[in-house]
Amino acid sequence: MPEKPYDLLIRGGTVVDGTGSPGVRADVAVDGDRIAAIGDLAGEAAAREIDAAGRIVAPGFIDVHAHDDAAVLTTPMDFKLMQGVTTDIVGNCGAGIAPHDPERGAVPAISMVLGDIGEARWRSFGEYMAEVERAKPAVNVACLVPHGVVRYAAIGMDMRAPSAGELDEMREHVREGMAAGAAGLSTGLIYPPGRFAETEEIIECAKEAAAEGGVYVSHIRDEGERLMEAVEEAVRIGDEAGLPAQISHHKANGEKSWGRTQDSISYIEERRAAGQDVTFDVYPYTAGSTVLSAFIAQPEGADPDNVLLASVPGRPELEGKTLREAAEMLDLPAEDATSAILRHSPGAVAIFFTMDEADVQRVVSHEQCMIGSDGIPTPGGKPHPRLYGTFPRVLQKYVREERLLSLEEGVRKMTSLPARRFKLGKRGELREGWAADIVVFDADTIADVATYEEPRQYPAGIDYVIVNGTVAAEDGHQAEHHAGTLVRRENG
Ligand code: CU
Ligand code: ZN
Repeated sequence: MPEKPYDLLIRGGTVVDGTGSPGVRADVAVDGDRIAAIGDLAGEAAAREIDAAGRIVAPGFIDVHAHDDAAVLTTPMDFKLMQGVTTDIVGNCGAGIAPHDPERGAVPAISMVLGDIGEARWRSFGEYMAEVERAKPAVNVACLVPHGVVRYAAIGMDMRAPSAGELDEMREHVREGMAAGAAGLSTGLIYPPGRFAETEEIIECAKEAAAEGGVYVSHIRDEGERLMEAVEEAVRIGDEAGLPAQISHHKANGEKSWGRTQDSISYIEERRAAGQDVTFDVYPYTAGSTVLSAFIAQPEGADPDNVLLASVPGRPELEGKTLREAAEMLDLPAEDATSAILRHSPGAVAIFFTMDEADVQRVVSHEQCMIGSDGIPTPGGKPHPRLYGTFPRVLQKYVREERLLSLEEGVRKMTSLPARRFKLGKRGELREGWAADIVVFDADTIADVATYEEPRQYPAGIDYVIVNGTVAAEDGHQAEHHAGTLVRRENG
């Protein structure tokens, strides 16, 4: 009796399993949503075969820093899937779309850039997660409870500390989200209303995440001249609340601060040596991107030539222009352009050229650094190219061209390292019985094609993206829109 054939057999590739160990020539068999076998499967049959000769077969990439809270419900997520991402972690920077109180509506400004939230059928964070599960997104989705949204639910945009009762309400939101399977708590301490929080308030909220085995993830209070104080605050929160801490998109903003990641990283290493669990992530570009309104609070990129308008709702003619060019078009002095644009388009998003490549390289090459796109999926405009290109860019630029990382190490940063950090269960490694989230790519040609001028372009060199055993992308097009699932935190 011949055995039942496998559903899928990926033959002849080099398996880079995600752990960092050297790639080995092997076949990979998939049954249902799981990896069934890895090895020499020459005599085996399958319903579908993929020839991976000359290709790398790796676990699907995990984007630890996504802002796709709404996009996973309302878009095909092609910008992530086509770059090999099979799991997205949403709820970053303290921003998001849950919990949701229909009377208060969405958090101003920051939530606007997350795109159309569709019909918000959820109230609590757990209900949002259930909605994601029901929607069957194109990629897997894990969630962080966003502190800014929790604060908004309790006290709106008030610039004050919460009362004891309000703090209890905030803690209850975090507890509820964690109980529903969120991976942790995130903060965004430059954005209102999150930045109105004092450290103690965050520690109290983070204790709820700690009790459930979650992680604290932070867009820290300052990424420029007060970088060290901001890193110290994040570390203190992790320490006092008793949970691992992760610094989001670690960087040094503004020329005066270039080089400061030397100090921040040695401080993090010191804390790690003392037994505290601190890690970080990065996007592989020297430009950042966020709401234009954040520029007023943190004008490190103050030169209007270094600010590029990415999306300006209602004024598409300004998209792709620098702030100086926009000021000329509006017939305004450059220093008045920002507020004029914000008055008309409060949700405007910009790109800021504020970083030094040496800092990016120092951060990306650290063994505790993961990869997160921080892509902002605004429906229109010219988004930062990281939305489409982050993961291929790491493999192209830092693995192939600069030789800063081995291929195995580059893949580890995008797979097993984040899967363990965020407790994603049996994901992030190619192992028998683990989730069949797989990407097949050509290490010699994988490349980020998206540019600042033309950001909406799929990467090159990726042959297949498999999500939970389903071929979701092949030959440069999306083949399946609903292969993903909600990923709950799995302790232990
Ligand atoms: Cu972010
Ligand atoms: Zn951020």
